[in-house]
Amino acid sequence: MGKKLHIHSTSTCDVLIIGAGGAGLRCAAHLHERRPDLLIFTVTKVAHPQKSHTSTAQGGMAAVDPKDKTDQSLYHMFDTWKGGDCASDQNVVKKIVDGGWEEVQWLERKGIHFSRDEGGNISKRQFGGHTVEFGKGDALRAVFVADRTGKGIMDTAWGEALKGGSRFINTTVVTELLFNEGCCVGAVLFKVKEGEFITVLAKATVLATGGSGQVFRITTNCRNNTGDGLAVILRAGLPVMDPEAVQFHPTGIVGPGILASEALRSEGGILRNKELEPFMERYAPKMKDLAPRDIVARAIETEIREGRGIMDPDHQIEHVWIDLRHLPDYVHEVKLKEVASFFKTYANLDSRTQLCPVRPSNHYHMGGIPTNEHGEVLTTANTVVPGLFAVGECACASLHGFNRLGTNSLLELLVMGRYAGERVLSGLKEKLAPAPKGAGEATLALFTSYLEAQGKENVGLIRQEMREVMTRKVGVFRIEKGMQEAIASLIAFKQRVAKVAISTKDTRMNQELLERWELDNLLDSAMAIAQGALMRKESRGAHFREDYPERSDEFQFHTLVSMTDFGKVSFGKRPIDMGICDAKGEYYEQFRIMPRKY
Ligand code: FUM
Repeated sequence: MGKKLHIHSTSTCDVLIIGAGGAGLRCAAHLHERRPDLLIFTVTKVAHPQKSHTSTAQGGMAAVDPKDKTDQSLYHMFDTWKGGDCASDQNVVKKIVDGGWEEVQWLERKGIHFSRDEGGNISKRQFGGHTVEFGKGDALRAVFVADRTGKGIMDTAWGEALKGGSRFINTTVVTELLFNEGCCVGAVLFKVKEGEFITVLAKATVLATGGSGQVFRITTNCRNNTGDGLAVILRAGLPVMDPEAVQFHPTGIVGPGILASEALRSEGGILRNKELEPFMERYAPKMKDLAPRDIVARAIETEIREGRGIMDPDHQIEHVWIDLRHLPDYVHEVKLKEVASFFKTYANLDSRTQLCPVRPSNHYHMGGIPTNEHGEVLTTANTVVPGLFAVGECACASLHGFNRLGTNSLLELLVMGRYAGERVLSGLKEKLAPAPKGAGEATLALFTSYLEAQGKENVGLIRQEMREVMTRKVGVFRIEKGMQEAIASLIAFKQRVAKVAISTKDTRMNQELLERWELDNLLDSAMAIAQGALMRKESRGAHFREDYPERSDEFQFHTLVSMTDFGKVSFGKRPIDMGICDAKGEYYEQFRIMPRKY
């Protein structure tokens, strides 16, 4: 081993935001707007905030325009509740849906260029499961920037955070949260480029570290989404909520799994099997290709299982087709230009004249760090952890229940970024609390153990094997035996990672060291997902158990998983908020526990 690892420096700020994707930047922008005097550090794992995963979001952002004569927030709330298979918190659903249009206006004021119709109005498209009049008609509810909506949002939110004076700390990850008498007082960060560990003390810490999609081999997620926030929370002795609720997007481009937006189907694209049959009619007679994602993903997998898939000769993966050939040139060339280019780049296909191969690809984690509707992190006992917030995909408030509707994530990350910012302000203390004794020791011990480990195992290979196991055994369809095998494999992987020798001992820009740490995070996230899925003996939303194919009222709760020692989990429960239903207002019947037919 080289030099003994140490904490290089300690800095202080008012608010520490860890993650500079859409949620983190929106939170930063709000704080700057409201309190220009605050010192805000915004940390990003990537080289530049614009490289965050939010930039890849394609199809749109759901929001109800209060002036829209056909749509209402109430319908959006109903769709979200039903879409999430009656597992969303209704207080959260209301609060986020109600905040949506304000975000559209904010983005417009700050310069986003939403796509517009010929009359100059903001265009809207339909996404799966979005309806009007409680399922009676289709809702045009998603505003968009062609098929690059995430990029538009990121340009805008980043500009605002920059203008407000956020101090960006790039290429940096969070390795440890710091607590003093139960309050979060900051975090330990690892600056990957400089190879330095630093402590940042803050009056409020906001986690916005994104998702955990790299747990799965086939995913629409970027390679940085390694569940870092979840792992840091688990190591702090706090729980994660509903980790088993993982979304598989129906249409990943076969091979890389890259997202082919649901907007393809919204614009009229049709899924077809080997016989070119438009098979969704058999699974969701009313909404067909625009049924919620969990239903479409299972339909595709079922077609393939039953022999109606097509084998891709290059990747040896079976798939179905999405047929876009009948769509006008304008759709291919303007509205879906980026996805069309992806089919060209990754499959050498022209979507105007050729069928395009798609298959479900891991896309989103509905589960995450439990928070209330203000983004405050909650303990197993449902109490607030003072000074600690979580927003965006790493968090679980829960808007999405067990299945997120397309376009509800951009809505959530913006609204919750703002709400959390507001809550940070209302509780901001005058003074910083001191660092706890031993701050950073856990991080230094962990990274020292990585650098000192001996053996012939390889980080990349274990990561690949883990992703393969999770895709096969804790994917779209789950069964007890498969999940038990997955858990046994995860334990074996954990033993093997202890035998990974890092070849370069220098901590500066040491990709192997970073990947070693990421692998621990991935394993922690995967274990929480697999254990939650094994415990939940029912099917709900995207969590589908072949051995328990029905939803069961016995499991009408949120799962809380805690894990201080790898593999040794303890479970807790959080009730699902049914405040709208319980209030017995005018439409309360639409918010009961209901059958889910489309
Ligand atoms: O299909 C899409 O464009 C993805 C949207 C989303 O995940 O919300």
